[in-house]
Amino acid sequence: MNTSDIMNLALEMSGCKNIPDDSEIYVEGDNIKKVLFGIDMTNADIYMAKSAGYDAVINHHPLSCSTRAYNVFLENIKLMVNAGVPEEYARKAVEDKYEALKITASTKNYDEVVSAAKLVNMPLLNIHQPLDEIGRKIMQDAIDDILKENPEAVLDDIVKGLNGISEFQRARTKIEILMGNGKSKAGKTFFAHGAYTNGGYDIANTCFECGINTVLYIHIAHPDYKRLKNENKGNLIVTGHIASDCVGINPFIKKLEALGIEVTGINGII
Ligand SMILES: [Fe+2]
Ligand SMILES: [Fe+2]
Repeated sequence: MNTSDIMNLALEMSGCKNIPDDSEIYVEGDNIKKVLFGIDMTNADIYMAKSAGYDAVINHHPLSCSTRAYNVFLENIKLMVNAGVPEEYARKAVEDKYEALKITASTKNYDEVVSAAKLVNMPLLNIHQPLDEIGRKIMQDAIDDILKENPEAVLDDIVKGLNGISEFQRARTKIEILMGNGKSKAGKTFFAHGAYTNGGYDIANTCFECGINTVLYIHIAHPDYKRLKNENKGNLIVTGHIASDCVGINPFIKKLEALGIEVTGINGII
């Protein structure tokens, strides 16, 4: 396989048609048999890959494409509409954070890691949204199955069901109910994930106001949580960043292995 084959496999598995703005091939490579895979790889990891004889490095989070990755945040509109939020409300809900992400994008040194990989000629790509989309489907399907079997399911049932996914059993973090409690009825439940980053206050608030009872994020900033908690319009569950990212990453790693590629996971691959 070459680096394009690897990217295309992720697109195919996730149902993405094109390479999204938060994913990119930076250093192309052919005949890849041994891959080092991480969530936030560093220059040291690149050098380690080179000295240990790896053929390519795959990173999850955006690297140099962080200068345009914020565009993927707009995918939240589609996710919300699919969950039943009217489109005009969904569009309004992404506006503020989209602007914040866009402005913040210019603060970063986007060249880190990529320039090191170019210097030592280590094939390098990052795959973000496609793998998050794989994870989102797995977690939303698990929730939908619980609610299909028992429409009266409570938050404890949702957490218990998600804990059946092996990544959550291995993680150091725990799935946490931040709003509502274990006995609260889950009702209409939406896992907002796979659109660059969490939707913060506005997306959860809009969901609550549009009839969604329970929102799940993989992480949330404390000020957003405090604001939502003060207003207390619905239930909020946070599943943990690394564990939840790995729910989408590990099926992709398994597929690469099935295709004969040896994969070593470090730096967040649990
Ligand atoms: Fe992710
Ligand atoms: Fe992530």
